[in-house]
Amino acid sequence: MNLDQRIRREIENGGPMPFERFMDLALYHPDGGFFTSGTLRSERAGDFLTSPEVSALFGETLARYVIGERERIGQPFEMVEVAAGSGSLLKPLLEAVDVAAFAVEASPTARDKLVEVLPPDRVLADLPDRIRGVVIGNELIDNLPMALAQRVDGSWRERWVGIDDDALAMVDAPPRPEVVAWLDQFAGDVPDDGWVEAQLAAASWVRDVLGRLEAGSLVLFDYGDTAENLLPRRQDGTLRTYRAHHLGPHPLDEPGETDITADVNFTALAAVAESAGAMVELHRQDDFLTGLGLGDRLSELRHAELDAARSGDAMERLRLRSLKTEAETLLHPRGLGDFRVLVARR
Ligand SMILES: C[S@@+](CC[C@H](N)C(=O)[O-])C[C@H]1O[C@@H](n2cnc3c(N)ncnc32)[C@H](O)[C@@H]1O
Repeated sequence: MNLDQRIRREIENGGPMPFERFMDLALYHPDGGFFTSGTLRSERAGDFLTSPEVSALFGETLARYVIGERERIGQPFEMVEVAAGSGSLLKPLLEAVDVAAFAVEASPTARDKLVEVLPPDRVLADLPDRIRGVVIGNELIDNLPMALAQRVDGSWRERWVGIDDDALAMVDAPPRPEVVAWLDQFAGDVPDDGWVEAQLAAASWVRDVLGRLEAGSLVLFDYGDTAENLLPRRQDGTLRTYRAHHLGPHPLDEPGETDITADVNFTALAAVAESAGAMVELHRQDDFLTGLGLGDRLSELRHAELDAARSGDAMERLRLRSLKTEAETLLHPRGLGDFRVLVARR
């Protein structure tokens, strides 16, 4: 039975399912989920290109953040990367800083790959109970299952997944109280017919990590924005799929075959982190990485490339030009530089 059939069977037996249940099955079902079966998704040959996959400069730059936090809180100190994917962030980071590190991954395929970077006992399926140090997550939150709601005549309705005309379809459902509470608190002034992805699992995840964090910080990189800045996109909502580096089909088509994602509501994450007692900062990725020295590194690369051109060293010039392009990509103000970075410290 394929994943589409499994989902239909569950709906036939139990009725329509909340969208977050559908998203959880489509991305994480052990037999057919997009991330939990088959190939490694987050690499150049995969379905999307993330900052660490673009360049080792991402991990190298974040090593400076880790060193700063180690100076701030002292020993014992460890670094935990959640959603560590192929290890493309951890590898350059660990080359730049000698620190005890753990990788946490939901995907068995990714965990198999991560043992090339860390000893097997440092590659985990779940978060450690207690953490003192830095927890980093790149493009994790946008993949956590979310509920889906629509504004109708000034009230909220949920959109669940049912079967219509023999195909998976969005169906109307009364909103659950916890979903309404999240929407009223974090969705903002959404116009009628507007769609909102209610990110309750993201909120629980942040609360859970901060509950385990004795001292140090949680640093989350993702696409998204504040609730207010997301309002212009609410008419259609931000739910979408990716496949082979391009926007993919409708989220209900081909479950398990596409990434399902939405913009992260950073207002909600910041509020949850603050209520868990953390000091919160929200940055743009370009500003955050520039503050850690990537802007200076880019200037050095530009000068070095010119020097290599003058000296006639074609190979060195090519190497430097490629690194320079990578740094520019990480900082591009309308691309990865426009990502948001949430820092929650305690
Ligand atoms: C978009 S990929 C990003 C991978 C990597 N961080 C990168 O930037 O290339 C999302 C990853 O999050 C992982 N993931 C999702 N939920 C998770 C969880 N609760 N704990 C750990 N990993 C999770 C998935 O398995 C997947 O590898």
